[in-house]
Amino acid sequence: MKRRTALKALGYGIGGAVVLTGGGYGVYYAAAQQDTVGEIAFDKALSIPPLAESEINASGARVFALGIQSGETRFKAGSATRTWGVNGTYLGPTIRARRGEKVEFAVRNGLDQDTSLHWHGMHLPAAMDGGPHQIVPAGETWRPRWTVDQPAATLWYHPHVHGSTADHMYRGLGGLFLVDDEDTEASKLPSEYGVDDIPMIVQDRAFDGDNQFEKRVPLGGSLGVIGDEVLVNGTIGPYVDVTTRLVRLRLLNGSNARLYNFGFSDDRTFSLVASDGGLLARPWNTERLYLSPGERAEIVVAFKPGEQVELRSYPSEYGGFLGRIEGFDDRLDICRFRAASTLSDDSAIPASLGVAPDLAGEKVARERSFVLASDQINGRSMAMDRIDFGVREGTVEVWDVVNDNGFVHNFHVHDVQFQVLTVDGGKPQPHLRGWKDTVLLAQGKHYRLAMRFRGHTDPNTPYMYHCHVLQHEDDGMMGQFVVLGEGEKVGTVPRTHHHS
Ligand code: C2O
Ligand code: CU
Ligand code: CU
Repeated sequence: MKRRTALKALGYGIGGAVVLTGGGYGVYYAAAQQDTVGEIAFDKALSIPPLAESEINASGARVFALGIQSGETRFKAGSATRTWGVNGTYLGPTIRARRGEKVEFAVRNGLDQDTSLHWHGMHLPAAMDGGPHQIVPAGETWRPRWTVDQPAATLWYHPHVHGSTADHMYRGLGGLFLVDDEDTEASKLPSEYGVDDIPMIVQDRAFDGDNQFEKRVPLGGSLGVIGDEVLVNGTIGPYVDVTTRLVRLRLLNGSNARLYNFGFSDDRTFSLVASDGGLLARPWNTERLYLSPGERAEIVVAFKPGEQVELRSYPSEYGGFLGRIEGFDDRLDICRFRAASTLSDDSAIPASLGVAPDLAGEKVARERSFVLASDQINGRSMAMDRIDFGVREGTVEVWDVVNDNGFVHNFHVHDVQFQVLTVDGGKPQPHLRGWKDTVLLAQGKHYRLAMRFRGHTDPNTPYMYHCHVLQHEDDGMMGQFVVLGEGEKVGTVPRTHHHS
């Protein structure tokens, strides 16, 4: 951490306000690489977000009450940190519902400013999506409802106020939303929540001298805030006591901007079993796994009795020019796993898991292309009142997406899970062969994404597509589409939405 002192002396965090001489920047650049291996105490048990309580109401819906609030959280010795949370002071409970269930929420905004909660990865009506058009004004309660209708998956929820998403996320709003179904329950994968099925919301944060969250933007950086400490479910330097041979980790990159290249300290192989939208057709064994902001992965790791191993983020190949100042060369220890001297052993990784995405042979109703560059998509910035296009309900479209400038971007689409058909004409890597809702865009490569739009038509209420690097999204790298029923035309966004 001493490196950071040097960085601060050079104006780290003051953005473009400080101009360094070439030599000064060289020092800054050289000091920007972080390596925390051996520096983390791992002396706190990983906090496990509680499962959200629910009740079944008269119409048979499962009802959850979510209260958004501000408060203080103690992350480390010294002052508590001013934070936001859901039913607590930092992050929120894990919501759990089964495929086919009706769900309903009372989302109460107890803050002194407007916010929203978006259900990332969920197939649902646009008016329930919780995006920038479903603002929950301060002091009010929003009651979205829908029927869960998609395969089991690790989804999540987070604020989505246009222009403030990065800020609201950084303060601590967000949580997991697990969808369950029979196929996944029958699979024998580890499934005891918090015991051998462990949620891990991975976030980076920078703290100022008074332990408050600091929006530290690297000098010359392009991605927004990059923190130098890693939190998992709000715990810095956590350990997990392992009691079973196989453990499933549900990883969410809940950071605003940082890319993680996950692996273990001994380079062991682990199995990727699910991507954003649910189970892969078959497990993929790997030593490394990238997750960009907003992406999830379920991995299964095998432990031996008595051993200790750390989950780590390794340097990545995606940084490019000046990547080092935004963390791409970092090596960060994240969580220690401490295996008991005897481990129970009753779960398994089946050779075949879910159903592979099947859109490759489908008739394509429409192709579209999306070029991400300069905080814009196809040369346009997000405008709340502009619907960029309408898609036909029931059809399959192929979207060709390319990151056309020097910065790191990814691409997320609301309402659907998509299939990555090809990456620059080639077969996608194994971790991209399952259902996805967010995909990292390697520089200059074309990603062809196939998606089917089904149900939930509404010509006036748009869904979003955007870069999930939150500063880029806030700066306008986002667009809007509507799903049209038979004979419907793209409508107009009602002007009833307000936020300051
Ligand atoms: Cu995770 Cu448009 O959001
Ligand atoms: Cu989303
Ligand atoms: Cu971006």
